[in-house]
Amino acid sequence: MQVTVLGGGMIVHDQILPSLYQLQRQGAIGEISIVSQRRRSLRALAEAEGLRRAFPGQSFRAYPSLDGDPDEPHPALYREIVSAMAARNLVVMALPDPLHFESVMHALASNQHVLAVKPLVLTAAHSVEIEKAARERDLFVGIEYHKRFDDRSLMARRRYRAGMFGDFRLGTACLLEKWYYRHSNFQNWCTTENSDAFTYIGCHYVDLVHFITGLMPVSISVYGLKDNYPNGNEGYLWTDARVIWNNGACLNVQNALGFPDEAPGTNTQGLTMYCSGGANGAWLEHSDQYRGLRYCYTARPAGDGATTFAEPSPDYFQYVDLGGPGLTPVGYGYRSIDHLVRAALRVEAAPAGARTRVLAEIDEAGVIATPANSRFNEQVIEAGRISILNGGREEKIRNPTD
Ligand SMILES: NC(=O)c1ccc[n+]([C@@H]2O[C@H](COP(=O)([O-])OP(=O)(O)OC[C@H]3O[C@@H](n4cnc5c(N)ncnc54)[C@H](O)[C@@H]3O)[C@@H](O)[C@H]2O)c1
Repeated sequence: MQVTVLGGGMIVHDQILPSLYQLQRQGAIGEISIVSQRRRSLRALAEAEGLRRAFPGQSFRAYPSLDGDPDEPHPALYREIVSAMAARNLVVMALPDPLHFESVMHALASNQHVLAVKPLVLTAAHSVEIEKAARERDLFVGIEYHKRFDDRSLMARRRYRAGMFGDFRLGTACLLEKWYYRHSNFQNWCTTENSDAFTYIGCHYVDLVHFITGLMPVSISVYGLKDNYPNGNEGYLWTDARVIWNNGACLNVQNALGFPDEAPGTNTQGLTMYCSGGANGAWLEHSDQYRGLRYCYTARPAGDGATTFAEPSPDYFQYVDLGGPGLTPVGYGYRSIDHLVRAALRVEAAPAGARTRVLAEIDEAGVIATPANSRFNEQVIEAGRISILNGGREEKIRNPTD
C-alpha cells in the first residue's frame, strides 16, 4: 500500500511520519509521499535529526520537491497528487481543521482509503457526506483519536463494560496546554469567531468517556473566558464545558491555553469518573500527565515548553533503542497509527464482495473511530460553539439524520 500524507506540520513530525516509517520498516506499507503547502515544512521533516537517527536510510517523496523557494505556496498541489495516485491506496490527512472536509472528500472521490487526524470535520452534516462517499466505494475512513489506544483507556473500557464500575454519574476532565501556545500560529486562527479551547482539545475527553462507557452525549453548555493573544486577537482561551449523557450523567471538561510554561510536563490532563452500582459507589481516576516519572536535568533541554524539572510521559510516543537499526517508536501514538493503517490494509485485502462486511465490523467494534460510530464528536463541537457564543446556554445535541 502506497501512502500519501497531506500536511507536514507538528503532528506529522511528532507522531505520524515516524509511525509510518516504522510500518515501512516492517514491510507493512510501501512508498511514503508527503504533500505540503510549502517546501520549508518538508525540508524541516527531511532534515529532522530525531527522524534521521531513528530511521537511517528511510525517506519520503516530497511534493513540491525539496529544491526551490521554501515559501512559495502550493495550496492546491495535494489535489493533483491525490488524483494521480493508483486506486485504493491510503491518504493520511493532517491538514488544518478548515481543510479537512474538502481534502477527505477529494481523497474518497479519487478512490483512496483515508486516515484522518481529529476532528474529522466541524459539522455532523459533513461527517454524513463523508460516510456516504466512503460506503459507495467500500473505502475505509478512520479518525485518529490516539487516547483510545492508551492501554489505560482500553482497561477502563473492558472493566466498565463488564459492569465493574456500575453506572457513570459525575465526572471531571481537564486538558490545559501550556501558556506559550499563545505565541504560536494559534493567535491567528484560534480566535473567538472560529474556535475556542473546548473545540480544540475538549473533544478528547468527550470521545474517551463515550469510548469507555458507550454512553451518548445529549446536551452541552460551554462557558468561555476571553483573553487577548500577544498580537491583540481575542480568543476563548479558558473554557468550562458541561456535557450531559443519555443516562443523565454529567461530565465537566476544563480546557485552556494557560498551563504555566515552567510547570513540569507538556500540559496537564486527566479524567475522574464517579459511578454507582448496586449498594456501592465506584470511582476511576486517570492522571494522564503525571505518569510516575520525575526527571531533573543539568540544564534546560532545547525546544518550546521544555523544563529542567520534567515529568515525561513514557506512554504517548518515545523512541527506544532495541539494538537497531535506528530507534524503535513505542507508545499509544504509534499503536494508534499502526492500528488504523492495518485496518485499511485489512479492508483492501478482503475479496471485493466481503469489504462491506469488514467495514461494518470495524464500525461495530467501536475501537477505531469512524464517521458512522463517532459522529457525536462533530455534534458536540457544533452545539458547543452555539453555546459558547451565547454565554454558555444549554444546547441539545442534534442528529443530522433525524
Ligand atoms: N491530539 C491530536 O489528535 C492532534 C494533535 C495535534 C494536531 N492534530 C490535528 O492535526 C491537524 C494538523 O495539526 P498540526 O498541529 O500538525 O498543524 P501545523 O500547522 O503544524 O501543520 C499543518 C500543515 O498543513 C500544511 N498545509 C496547510 N494548508 C495546506 C494545503 N493547502 N496543502 C498542503 N498542506 C497544507 C501546512 O503547511 C503545515 O505543514 C489539525 O487538524 C489538528 O487539529 C491532532
